[in-house]
Amino acid sequence: MNQAEAPKESEINSYGTRNTLTGFLVQMKERTSKYPRVLSFSSGKGGVGKTSIVTNTALAMSRLGQRVMILDADLGLANIDIMLGLAPKHTIKHVFSGEKSVSEVLIEGPEGVVILPAAVGVPELAKLTNSEKLFLLNEMEELSASFDVMLIDTSAGISDNVIYFNIVAQQRVIIVTPEPASITDAYALIKVLANRHLVRNFSILVNWTKDGQEAQNVYRRLSTIASRFLGLLSMDYLGFIPKDDAIPMAVSNQKTVLEIFPECEASNGFMDLAQCILDDRRENHAVGNVKYFWEHLLRM
Ligand SMILES: Nc1ncnc2c1ncn2[C@@H]1O[C@H](COP(=O)(O)OP(=O)(O)OP(=O)(O)O)[C@@H](O)[C@H]1O
Ligand SMILES: [Mg+2]
Repeated sequence: MNQAEAPKESEINSYGTRNTLTGFLVQMKERTSKYPRVLSFSSGKGGVGKTSIVTNTALAMSRLGQRVMILDADLGLANIDIMLGLAPKHTIKHVFSGEKSVSEVLIEGPEGVVILPAAVGVPELAKLTNSEKLFLLNEMEELSASFDVMLIDTSAGISDNVIYFNIVAQQRVIIVTPEPASITDAYALIKVLANRHLVRNFSILVNWTKDGQEAQNVYRRLSTIASRFLGLLSMDYLGFIPKDDAIPMAVSNQKTVLEIFPECEASNGFMDLAQCILDDRRENHAVGNVKYFWEHLLRM
């Protein structure tokens, strides 16, 4: 992907991003109440817990009264459904081909969480005709009214897909573990987003830690190198999920930890994380909601 393919700053501004005018923010506030918030979960390095975190956070948010949709944007493997023991018959591809409506493609996960199996990359989205894009946008808009929050589980690495989902999401959660390779790869992802795509806001979530102290150290290491080499960035510390054997046990049962070990350390961590995300109502979250997300994705 080269610079020319990234959304231009002027385009972004027309939807009201970081540099918006007050008028736009007022407009966006109305839209926020109508459209769900969109959070992407990425990591740089693979296997650091993205899918476990997305599924459990979705469940935790659902328990907190939110209507949650997961967009499974890991196009390599059908991640989410394997982890939750679901078997989607259709994906968004069937929506493009006109065989199914979006609501027919959605699958119901545990406790009311809904999953949209993507199985299609940004290059395929770009190939759609204008009328197909418009159709999809309308379908998504209609669907959006039914949700409060959309969580995107991306693939590992810095492929075009991962970059695009990060650009258009409202809040970017970067997952990192204490493992040095995970910190290096998270930095590489942040660097591409910051330098090539002018993304300045990140939320850092530390997974697989001994305790909060270790998590804070990991966060500090990452934010220190990022601010030294990438200039002014906003990097929030979103908290941590402890290393907990209940997570792999739940995975092998194709369940979330919240369902089978609701009292374990990791489950408490997911409830705290969900609450922390929902409590965060900063102004910049008023932009990049789900309408913005689909409009931009389809324009790429
Ligand atoms: N906090 C944790 N404690 C213990 N095990 C964990 C923790 N988080 C994740 N795991 C385990 O790590 C493995 C990988 O997790 P997961 O599939 O969620 O990672 P991922 O980032 O989605 O991987 P990929 O990049 O392949 O999509 C799983 O078996 C899961 O059980
Ligand atoms: Mg995964």
